[in-house]
Amino acid sequence: MKINKKKYLDRSRSLIELINKSPTPFHVVQSFEDQLKSAGYVQLYEQDKWNLSSGGKYYVSRNGSSLVVFSVGLKASEESGFKIIGAHTDSPNLRLKPNPVYLKNGYVQLGVEVYGGALLSTWTDRDLSLAGRVILKELPTRKVSKSHSRANNQATLVDYGCVSRLITFDRPLLRIPQLAIHLNRSVNEKGLVLNPQNHLPPILALVDGKTKSKTLLADLVAEELRCKSADILGLEMQLYDLQKGTFAGANSEFLFASRLDNLASCHAAMAALLESPKKNVATHVLVFYDNEEIGSDTAQGGSSPFLKDILERISTTKKQSREALMRGIARSLFISADMAHAVHPNYAEMHDGNHMPMINAGPVIKSHSGQKYATEGVTSSQFEELCRRSKVPVQKFSVRSDMRCGSTIGPVTATNLGIRTVDIGSPMLSMHSIREMAGSEDQEYLIRVFKEFFKSE
Ligand code: CO
Repeated sequence: MKINKKKYLDRSRSLIELINKSPTPFHVVQSFEDQLKSAGYVQLYEQDKWNLSSGGKYYVSRNGSSLVVFSVGLKASEESGFKIIGAHTDSPNLRLKPNPVYLKNGYVQLGVEVYGGALLSTWTDRDLSLAGRVILKELPTRKVSKSHSRANNQATLVDYGCVSRLITFDRPLLRIPQLAIHLNRSVNEKGLVLNPQNHLPPILALVDGKTKSKTLLADLVAEELRCKSADILGLEMQLYDLQKGTFAGANSEFLFASRLDNLASCHAAMAALLESPKKNVATHVLVFYDNEEIGSDTAQGGSSPFLKDILERISTTKKQSREALMRGIARSLFISADMAHAVHPNYAEMHDGNHMPMINAGPVIKSHSGQKYATEGVTSSQFEELCRRSKVPVQKFSVRSDMRCGSTIGPVTATNLGIRTVDIGSPMLSMHSIREMAGSEDQEYLIRVFKEFFKSE
């Protein structure tokens, strides 16, 4: 089944745009919030009292890095259940330490920590920049209105006299240069071994006076945000690759970009929700968690009560009992969407021979008997049926029996909520590289299945 070429290119172009403007989970949430606002969705805050109406469309974020979006169904959730798609907003990267700046051998460098399972070698010799969240002293002149406005460069109130603002430098500030081969003769035989403490700190500048160099990062941030460096209370910043995502391959069959894992899944879920019919019978929910790459155990991660809290508030908004929530969950399906491993032609032996997903051959259902993926027989069949109905090809993945299996937000969500779950995702190569590779047709396939999920009864 071949899809309309223009349509799939447009889908992937829109994904690339999202990736390009969203270097951190904070920016991912902001990008989606902007999109939701213009689609007429109403922003909610967890600390406020909610008055939800049936047919109402809402979104709520936690920590500015996780997001739940929902469209309340015409039928109560205990009658029709929730249709939920989950994905994650974070990707492996290098993050600045609390006191990052140090001077060494004439260079100004930044101390970094590795966030998640990054393919470290791919961070070397690239044009790197910085992005993230800056916490500032709340000054009377900069008072944030109680409406918590959060447009570009506007501050978000975080209380205790602090406001936070997002920042993206968008220019080549940093580099982690590889050692020349003349000084590391065996690197091609032994592989590039990088000690995170010693070999990953990027170079920011040449030392230009001790005091000036020590305050260089704060000065750059202050200049970018047009504030005083003395007002900066904290930086939560990460490195990112400046190279924009692109179509690639002889027939534009590929996408090369950063953070395809897992912004491709977030993007597909959002597109499907926004393109679903205005009036939905069941309640549709998207949950995009931060911190999947470090195990999900945070206040806004997959192990947190974030999703359950929201489902409970939806279920009990009309003074219904807590039983309504439990009945709703028992009727629900959770699609946990995260990228899958396509077979690599140079390393085909790393896959089980009967489970070799191909790029541009549709979404992959991931199963594991040890339940590192939450898929079971029923949910796998239900997802396969959705693919059949939407005329989308479907593939299956099971890890080699002699290898360890990765995991997703699927098992933690299934465990927390007791909800039926299927783990699926689009096939890709170079997972967790600074620049990943996926198929330009798979995005449209995934969106079609998600739309079918929201449409079906
Ligand atoms: Co992932």
